[in-house]
Amino acid sequence: MDNIGLNIPQSVGIIMDGNGRWAKKRGLPRTMGHKAGCDAIEKLLPEAGKIGIKYLTVYAFSTENWKRSKDEVDGLMQLFRYYAMRLLKAAKEGNVRIRMIGDRRRFPKDIIESINKLEAETVSNTGLTFIVAANYGGRDEIRRAAMKLAIDYKEGRIDESFIAEASERYHEGELTEEGFAAYLDTAGIPDPDLIIRTSGELRLSNFLTWQSAYSEIVVTDTLWPDFDREELLNCIRQYNQRSRRFGGV
Ligand code: IPE
Ligand code: IPE
Ligand code: MG
Repeated sequence: MDNIGLNIPQSVGIIMDGNGRWAKKRGLPRTMGHKAGCDAIEKLLPEAGKIGIKYLTVYAFSTENWKRSKDEVDGLMQLFRYYAMRLLKAAKEGNVRIRMIGDRRRFPKDIIESINKLEAETVSNTGLTFIVAANYGGRDEIRRAAMKLAIDYKEGRIDESFIAEASERYHEGELTEEGFAAYLDTAGIPDPDLIIRTSGELRLSNFLTWQSAYSEIVVTDTLWPDFDREELLNCIRQYNQRSRRFGGV
């Protein structure tokens, strides 16, 4: 691992924004910006592992991104098909475990199959966990979790360990926060310590709504295709200036 003298966040989320603006600046179609964005992820992935990040979550496609033109959405699906194969190879070589969060049921059948394959074939890898948020929305994730929970409750399948004893925090018999979080797509993945957004926008756009409660947020003006290891280290340097209090003093 690189010895860079920084306190490295264990779990990092990235809102990869600005592909369209990157393309526009060059007079290229938006899809070329997305392609350059995919190249940026591919280059960053091994660097994130070397820096010492354990969980990297990238926002690739939101539940709202279906509003874009058919051309742009189709272009993104084609890119996914192409990069899925490259990603599998890179993950196998780099001991990376891949997970997808979001509702994959809306994707074409071949893409669902390739998502399942990416997860299944990397499940025993022990290095960086790379989480791709695709057809992901924080509210949609909470809604789906609530539905699964309601069904389990009805069928008497709630795990005993999710039920609270009386304490300062809970009344006897209530569902705990950990119990609820186990129903989210991110079950088992630590909440992001740091969320980075590229391209300057000061919002979360439905990313990790539950999990971001205490994340530190760093926004950079750099457009996503230009984001690299040096930019990531700059964001971590800003994170290192923050005092995380979690409601304490
Ligand atoms: C982010 O880049 C990638 C996706 C949302 C798929 P954008 O496509 O949102 O780029 P801008 O915001 O238009 O520049
Ligand atoms: C957020 O970017 C979604 C992804 C990066 C996948 P958007 O470009 O969709 O967000 P808004 O529309 O600016 O909020
Ligand atoms: Mg955008």
